[in-house]
Amino acid sequence: MSDQATTIPAPRPENQRTDAALLELRSVEVAYGGIVALKGIDLEVHQGEIVALLGANGAGKTTTLRTVSGLLQPRSGQVLYAGEPLSGIPAHKIVQLGIGHSPEGRRIFPRMTVLENLQMGAYRFKAVSQNDLNQVFELFPRLHERRTQLGGNLSGGEQQMLAIGRAMMGQPTLLLLDEPSMGLAPLIVAQIFEIIERINALGTTILLVEQNAAQALKLANRGYVLETGEVRMSAPAAELLDDPRVREAYLGETTE
Ligand SMILES: Nc1ncnc2c1ncn2[C@@H]1O[C@H](COP(=O)(O)OP(=O)(O)O)[C@@H](O)[C@H]1O
Ligand SMILES: [Mg+2]
Repeated sequence: MSDQATTIPAPRPENQRTDAALLELRSVEVAYGGIVALKGIDLEVHQGEIVALLGANGAGKTTTLRTVSGLLQPRSGQVLYAGEPLSGIPAHKIVQLGIGHSPEGRRIFPRMTVLENLQMGAYRFKAVSQNDLNQVFELFPRLHERRTQLGGNLSGGEQQMLAIGRAMMGQPTLLLLDEPSMGLAPLIVAQIFEIIERINALGTTILLVEQNAAQALKLANRGYVLETGEVRMSAPAAELLDDPRVREAYLGETTE
């Protein structure tokens, strides 16, 4: 009887999962004019998870993230966040609801300093929280070192850290990461993945779009494979890593 009160789960990622989805896409269709980019996709992200979204170029990964963050509106279907539909809610309100987005290609402001870039990440909130800044600088000591430098003078890896750091301002509940390893050297990619893992361990749920399927799946709890706007596979990450179709198509292996 009294067991419920005494079994407090340890704050480890695999124990944070709860049954109600934090994010749910139901039959989401998105079109650019006549081009249908998402043909009715279903996807769930649970609190505490890292979910990898994989697929070739043009599969619809970026479109999915931009739809969740309100930059695109589905032409049918629903996006639910903590059980509430997001339809019609503008992007800046969605940030306030706790969804951070680090976009494809980083999109930092090259003529602003690192600090100003981070402050821009907080401009939807009433004030820039010193707490948020401290947390970002703790995650990325490099950004603290370079806080007075212009964004445009940072290396590719540092710009990626800045894009993620900017999305962390406001302490999102759900962080959307679009190709954080793109164009970076292997050593830097490893650092970025380590930081993603750390952000998750500190309690942030993550939807991770990656071309680097092997590394993404090693980090993720579950994964989805998109193909031309449809979900082709959805499984625990370990299963996807072992799947011959995934290995051939996304891990650059030949099955003989
Ligand atoms: N702004 C746009 N206008 C028209 N078509 C687009 C636009 N952005 C993406 N698309 C198309 O939508 C599909 C999905 O693109 P995208 O979501 O960027 O894929 P991914 O991120 O998986 O590479 C592709 O066919 C792409 O050409
Ligand atoms: Mg993309």
